[in-house]
Amino acid sequence: MADAAAIESNSADHVTVSPHAHGFAAEITGINLADGVSDAEFAVIHQAFLDHKVLVFRDQPLEDAPHQAFAARFGELDGHINKSTRQKGMPNVQVFSNVKADGKTTGVHPEKGTLVWHTDKSYTATPSLTTVLRSPAIASKGGDTLFADTARAYEALPEPTKNKIGGLRAIHDWGRSRLKSGERPATEEEMAAAPPVDHPLARTHPETGAKAIYVGNHASHVVDMDRSEGEALLAELEAHATQAQYIYRHKWRVNDVLMWDNRCTMHCVEPYDAAKEKRAVHRVVVKGDKPV
Ligand SMILES: [Fe+2]
Repeated sequence: MADAAAIESNSADHVTVSPHAHGFAAEITGINLADGVSDAEFAVIHQAFLDHKVLVFRDQPLEDAPHQAFAARFGELDGHINKSTRQKGMPNVQVFSNVKADGKTTGVHPEKGTLVWHTDKSYTATPSLTTVLRSPAIASKGGDTLFADTARAYEALPEPTKNKIGGLRAIHDWGRSRLKSGERPATEEEMAAAPPVDHPLARTHPETGAKAIYVGNHASHVVDMDRSEGEALLAELEAHATQAQYIYRHKWRVNDVLMWDNRCTMHCVEPYDAAKEKRAVHRVVVKGDKPV
């Protein structure tokens, strides 16, 4: 017979899941991620992740190692193609910060591509399953992260549009994405590491079976379609998916941990005054499946 301590450690009754409007995004309370996550706790978190797509954990003053360890519960970690953002000695932790060593701001947001709608690493053959972000420094005004529920948006598409995009694929291109967002051009090394790939315009979630619109800034154009016509279709789908009724707006607090399912969401960062406001996030991503 199991003793009381074993029963206690195998319980997740202390974990509470509080969904936001439409069940999109949920806040998880009753857990301290720095202590590690038991199997029972992970089961609750994982189910909430599938149900609500974006999870918020408040007041989690994590270091990089436990941050990375928590993300690794979801699968294999994936470094970022932009080596300049990698944390020293921890290549799977990326730091996006406008704070210099002397404590002053650099004056610019560290990655312009994050300011436009995108889904993480869709320019790779196996885009990110989840991204786990934490916030050592936040802007007092602006800098919110917005999420779009691309599965609910897909469901609301007219049937003819679902049929039209059902057989279509888009090219996702890191180099083109950077030019569109006004970032420095991709290097030859980066393009060799992440050559353009194609993914379905509507992907099927490998765990829930739900279909979702799969576009965003990394999507360049549509395969076997006139270039401008394809770009217009991508823009139309993005505009549809980012209507107010599909959005969760995350207002950051210091020491938030925020994670999301890249297979059924898009996100972007709201602009802020990067000359005055200090903003830093640490990011760990988990590699996902090839979209189908
Ligand atoms: Fe992102």
